Amino acid sequence: MGAAMRTQQAAKPAIIHPFWLRATHWINAVAVVLMIASGLRIYNASPFFDFTIPAALTLGGWLGGALQWHFAAMWLLAVNGIAYLAINLFSGRLRRQFFPLSPRQFLRDLGAALKGKLAHADPRHYNAVQRAAYLFVILDIVLIVLSGLVLWKSVQFSMLRELLGGYEAARRIHFFAMSALAGFIALHLVMVALVPRTLLAMLRGR
Ligand code: HEM
Repeated sequence: MGAAMRTQQAAKPAIIHPFWLRATHWINAVAVVLMIASGLRIYNASPFFDFTIPAALTLGGWLGGALQWHFAAMWLLAVNGIAYLAINLFSGRLRRQFFPLSPRQFLRDLGAALKGKLAHADPRHYNAVQRAAYLFVILDIVLIVLSGLVLWKSVQFSMLRELLGGYEAARRIHFFAMSALAGFIALHLVMVALVPRTLLAMLRGR
């Protein structure tokens, strides 16, 4: 390697998040917001709790419109999610980036985070709290998609429907998993606001 090339490499900060990761992350963020907002409008059409969601927080205007949004954005969510998972799995990144993860490490890092003492020295490596949170939300979205398949095509996915405890149970699972996702997003945004450097890396890659 020539000296000029070495200097150039040294000057260029290392890649933290490759392009495919940034693309799938932001597409996912858009898809998730569209899915939640239209899903809440669908919920309002036939609520199973004694509350409905203020219309201003929902998308679609009426049940038919909300279903159109939900069915359009679900392809974005599913195709993008499958691409994200496939690249992560086959490149070995999933194992490298999110494991090892032990309850002990999690509690140690959570304690440090609550005391404001969690080091963020190297943004390429996630601490145990980040690992657990990201793995949690990935599995949560998988559960949302599976229960959503049951609500969408309950006859075709009858085995999955029975595994989830029937159609009505799948509706509750879909709703509670969505609520957990909303909780993750709220926490995620607080964490990003506390360490804004990570946002730059998720936008620019470096
Ligand atoms: C405007 C909204 C959002 C912002 C500003 C944002 C920002 C970020 C940032 C800065 C990171 C890197 C964090 C780090 O270094 O620890 C990140 C990672 C991540 N975010 Fe978000 N995010 C948003 C929405 C979402 C949503 C809606 C989801 C999921 C439903 C999500 C899931 C994730 C996951 C799973 C990772 C880790 C990705 C990986 O390394 O494979 N984010 N986000």
